[in-house]
Amino acid sequence: MTATAAPWRTPLTALFGVRYPVLAGGLMWLSDAPYVAALVRAGAMGFMTPRSFDSLAVFRQELRRCRELCQGLPFGVNLTLSNRMEANHEVPAQVGVAIEEGVRHFETVGPSPGVLFERIHAAGGVVIHKCAFVEHARKAEAAGADAVALVGMEAGGHPGMNELPTSVLCALALETLQVPVVWGGGIGHGRQIAAALAMGCAGVVIGTRFLVGDEVGAHPDYKDHLAGQPAQASTVVLRSTGNPWRVLDNGTAREVRRREDAGARTYPEFGALALGRTGRDGAYRGGDIDEGLLSMGPAIGFARRREPLQAIVDGLMTEAAQVLAKVRQLVPAGTHA
Ligand SMILES: Cc1cc2nc3c(=O)[nH]c(=O)nc-3n(C[C@H](O)[C@H](O)[C@H](O)COP(=O)(O)O)c2cc1C
Repeated sequence: MTATAAPWRTPLTALFGVRYPVLAGGLMWLSDAPYVAALVRAGAMGFMTPRSFDSLAVFRQELRRCRELCQGLPFGVNLTLSNRMEANHEVPAQVGVAIEEGVRHFETVGPSPGVLFERIHAAGGVVIHKCAFVEHARKAEAAGADAVALVGMEAGGHPGMNELPTSVLCALALETLQVPVVWGGGIGHGRQIAAALAMGCAGVVIGTRFLVGDEVGAHPDYKDHLAGQPAQASTVVLRSTGNPWRVLDNGTAREVRRREDAGARTYPEFGALALGRTGRDGAYRGGDIDEGLLSMGPAIGFARRREPLQAIVDGLMTEAAQVLAKVRQLVPAGTHA
């Protein structure tokens, strides 16, 4: 399958103007122009993460670079709101810069996103809100989200305090929501995409499976290490702080767990271990797999080698198409819903 193949038809492909019902969720430190553009050219929607850049000016430069690399195809921006309100002061400026630079596709995360929805819609944009609870998805729909993504406990990064798998969250969300529901978490094989579509989801959000992509701006030694990992290689730390983090089970994760077991509950007690920059500098830039908490979920078990993102996306969608074709044959002729 290539990016010139006919587009799939789901509410998500229509909403985001993409060939495949696949969103590449924002990846802190890694969703830069080459990463996002490679996924966009492969037929998915990618979201740049403004907080990964040193300043708004650098973010703006990166948006311009992405626009060039995307060759006229739309790309998106991830807007992450924190429970710590003081951490959100840059978000209005981030959405402003993105809109000024022509971005119209957004992924939001975090509490009270309604103001962002208004701003995005006023500019003619669309927004999917990503959350870990069906109740939050319902609120996002009421506040005007065009779609919602439910991330279960298996998702890489911050899955929230929810302990349910995505299969349950999405089935529950489909019972009550009118807007398209997207499956976020654990996707590493096309058969899972087929399952998500078959149950009524409009598409999937993927993070972990793309980490071994050639265009991911991380050290090759780190990516080679990930490519050899089983599904059991991720672990959840910092649940004690109320903000769990699903990461690669490495030296830093083990030390964080040791401190939690010894009673640590606040960020200062974890020091530099829990800072995102530690992983950026140590693992992503330096290739040291034990340095920092490194977002990653069990979908890594499907990643066997480094390869171009286009090849990963094509592989997933070929697998999904094959499975869906077989599923159609399971239903006896003349059977009606
Ligand atoms: C390395 C990495 C960094 C991430 N950073 C962010 C982020 O900054 N903002 C966000 O909304 N989600 C972030 N996520 C979550 C992804 O966007 C996506 O929701 C998640 O990876 C889906 O689950 P999966 O990892 O099982 O595919 C990150 C995930 C990973 C693996």
